[in-house]
Amino acid sequence: MATWDQIWQSGAPDLWSIPDRTVLELASRWKAGGTVRRVLDLGCGAGRHLLPLAAEGFLMTGIDHAPSAIAECRSRLDQHGLKAELHCAEMTEIPYADCVFDAVIAFNSIYHGPAAQLRRIAELLHAKLRPGGAGFITLPSRENRMYGKGEPVGPHTFVNPGMFAGLFPNDGERGIPHYFASEADVCSFFSGFHVLSLTQHELHLASVKGPDHAVHWLRVPKAFFWNLEVIRK
Ligand SMILES: C[S@@+](CC[C@H](N)C(=O)[O-])C[C@H]1O[C@@H](n2cnc3c(N)ncnc32)[C@H](O)[C@@H]1O
Repeated sequence: MATWDQIWQSGAPDLWSIPDRTVLELASRWKAGGTVRRVLDLGCGAGRHLLPLAAEGFLMTGIDHAPSAIAECRSRLDQHGLKAELHCAEMTEIPYADCVFDAVIAFNSIYHGPAAQLRRIAELLHAKLRPGGAGFITLPSRENRMYGKGEPVGPHTFVNPGMFAGLFPNDGERGIPHYFASEADVCSFFSGFHVLSLTQHELHLASVKGPDHAVHWLRVPKAFFWNLEVIRK
């Protein structure tokens, strides 16, 4: 059974190094709007979103409980001469005062536990964002190919046999629980927010190939996730 720390110990593969296009598009909207300065990346991993946003001038904070992820993210920041506040911490313990963040990103990170934990994290995000603050969150839906597979550890919660086997080192999340949300769940967890959009997408991950370093996008079949864009009430 892999832990997140073991997964990141082999270094971040390309597939988890190239930023998701939706996040970049959202960041450019935030930048154009001029009201988002301080951004929290919850479960930041190796920093594939934190780095480009820091490069755009956002004041970035990254939280991740895997020391190897934080170390990789720190090394990449240093390599690029970028700055950010990084914390190796549980996401249930965001070490900041309330209302300090203008925006939060939680990309494929907040659902590694039962519904009660997810609800708690959504409440924490509400507390740490200022009123009017923006959020972008992704989480697996019940259309996901892994729903119902593996060992059930609670309602709609499964320790899956390799959610990302082959797409992550160390057997890709084998042994790590995943909560699969319905649309009603998402709206309930995030009831303290205005939902701007809630859509299901198949996950796409990218790698760089060939002498021209072209970016190739890989569709992960039936890896359905909710993309949720919110504004804190
Ligand atoms: C699938 S990775 C996504 C990383 C990054 N958001 C990205 O899109 O590349 C999930 C990340 O969430 C982190 N994570 C999972 N549960 C966590 C928790 N309870 N507290 C802090 N970090 C957590 C893991 O260590 C891992 O880096």
